[in-house]
Amino acid sequence: MSNNDQVASRPWIEARDLYKSYRKGRHEIAVLRGVNLAVARGEFVAIVGASGSGKSTLLHVLGTLDDPDRGEIWFGGRRIDRLSTRDKDRLRNQEIGFVFQFYHLLPELCLLENVLMPVMIRTWTMGWWLRRWGARQQAWQWLKRLGLTDRARSRPKELSGGEMQRAAIARALINHPKLLLADEPTGNLDAQSAQDIAELLRDLNRQEGLTIIMVTHNWELAQRADRVLRLAEGKLIPLLSNGTFPE
Ligand SMILES: Nc1ncnc2c1ncn2[C@@H]1O[C@H](COP(=O)(O)OP(=O)(O)OP(=O)(O)O)[C@@H](O)[C@H]1O
Ligand SMILES: [Mg+2]
Repeated sequence: MSNNDQVASRPWIEARDLYKSYRKGRHEIAVLRGVNLAVARGEFVAIVGASGSGKSTLLHVLGTLDDPDRGEIWFGGRRIDRLSTRDKDRLRNQEIGFVFQFYHLLPELCLLENVLMPVMIRTWTMGWWLRRWGARQQAWQWLKRLGLTDRARSRPKELSGGEMQRAAIARALINHPKLLLADEPTGNLDAQSAQDIAELLRDLNRQEGLTIIMVTHNWELAQRADRVLRLAEGKLIPLLSNGTFPE
């Protein structure tokens, strides 16, 4: 194995023995119970699992939106679960794109402004006013790619679930993240739109080397990934391409 191969095969994102519980009144729900995950740069990994198994929780913890109770998260050779709030914010803004299961678009902004928000945050100190024209062009291109140009000036409450979902995907991609964490990115789309988003993600992965960790209930979409893992009983288990567990 050459040196380059060794570098390429070293995990780029790694979760080591993650635990996460929630407290509901007197009850504690142990959601993640020793999750281990190693993803190489440029990989496309799908995570499936029953509703309530902890897929969103895992994605939030991987993306530093939530802290694990125990365990470590490494990203590009750096431990990220213990970074300061400011460093986590910067990491999420510049290196990680997040598609939330329930979109989390800002209700008072139109769709174009929502898509532009990560660029505004990123360029705040470097001068949004200098970059705004180029950023708007880019945002328009994403809206076009996602079939949303005629909705650019609508606010989230005027949009369908599928339109909000596509806007959330555009917002996640506008800052050219290295890693995309996508929580059910096609959950609200019809079969054809889901197919289009699946193609888009596969193209970004193959052509631009975007590393993707995607949660989905859609088995067809999961099969487009390089690898499928199932979250069950608080742990990740690899699945074979026919959906069965390896012997
Ligand atoms: N903030 C919270 N406070 C308390 N319990 C929570 C919280 N967030 C999630 N849970 C609980 O943790 C468990 C896992 O939730 P999670 O949203 O991660 O599941 P999921 O696999 O994403 O489900 P779905 O497929 O329905 O989206 C559920 O039982 C849920 O009720
Ligand atoms: Mg979920």
